[in-house]
Amino acid sequence: MRLTGVKLGVIGCGNMGEAIIRGVIAKKVIRPNRLTVFDTIAGKLRAVSKRYKVKAAGSAAEAAKASNVIIIAVKPKDAHELFTAIAPFLNKHTLIISIMAGVQLSWIQGVAKKRFPVVRVMPNMAALVGSSISSLSYNTCVPARHKAIARELFSSIGTIYETEEAKKNAVTALVGSGPGFLMYILEAFIEAALEEGFSGNDAHRLLAATFKGTAHVLDRLGLSPEDLRKRVTSKGGTTEAGIRVFERRRLNDIVKEAVRAAIIRAEELGK
Ligand SMILES: NC(=O)c1ccc[n+]([C@@H]2O[C@H](COP(=O)([O-])OP(=O)(O)OC[C@H]3O[C@@H](n4cnc5c(N)ncnc54)[C@H](OP(=O)(O)O)[C@@H]3O)[C@@H](O)[C@H]2O)c1
Repeated sequence: MRLTGVKLGVIGCGNMGEAIIRGVIAKKVIRPNRLTVFDTIAGKLRAVSKRYKVKAAGSAAEAAKASNVIIIAVKPKDAHELFTAIAPFLNKHTLIISIMAGVQLSWIQGVAKKRFPVVRVMPNMAALVGSSISSLSYNTCVPARHKAIARELFSSIGTIYETEEAKKNAVTALVGSGPGFLMYILEAFIEAALEEGFSGNDAHRLLAATFKGTAHVLDRLGLSPEDLRKRVTSKGGTTEAGIRVFERRRLNDIVKEAVRAAIIRAEELGK
């Protein structure tokens, strides 16, 4: 659905900022002439503005002034300086959407020293191919109209999940770190294939195809992981023999401990 009345600003055109720009333009959520972008790296700003035919601002303040919905896609370390620059242009009619990991809604409100609607979003790296699951949390000033805008914007890079901010660190561990966790496990399978005498190339091909195929089946058939596992685990068969080892060595406890460690680290980084 095309958003009407929205003048969108994207500040920070790195991996994530550009993925969002690509998504909203490709899905026609916003017309290119309603989108103003800014990045401190002049070459990046030029390239993005040319690639998506969107307006390039001369400063973050200029991008904020031109917009009524502003996506903040810079690194957390740059947040303070950025908010100091754009604070004069923020009011209760301007929606701020921050994708900065670990930066709390209350911090954003505090640094700008006024009340305005803020949505905190945690996308994941699958945004690069339009398959993110982005979690959205709102501060108390976000009206229904702004929530609808945020949902529409982030649906253009995948699916969305709304949650209270208190769950953000857990979501970060599961969804932000999740791709890294899954790849670590896939690497272990590749190592096992190497030990069985496969070349690096073949090991990678076999396991990447198995992983992709399994994800597709899960998606297409709408099965739960448990249902899918049961379908391929026949009594007395090979899968059952392998899973017995996972159970004996308590793989699920290891996974839970890894998720907990990631949550604790997210809490530390958010302080
Ligand atoms: N990558 C992920 O998978 C992921 C997932 C979830 C959330 N996030 C969050 O998304 C944000 C962006 O991540 P990213 O991976 O896209 O980072 P990135 O590639 O480093 O992009 C950030 C860009 O913003 C620029 N910038 C810095 N200060 C600025 C300012 N005041 N005004 C305009 N542009 C400015 C940076 O330039 P310099 O390089 O010169 O600083 C850089 O080009 C981070 O806060 C991160 O926590 C990322």
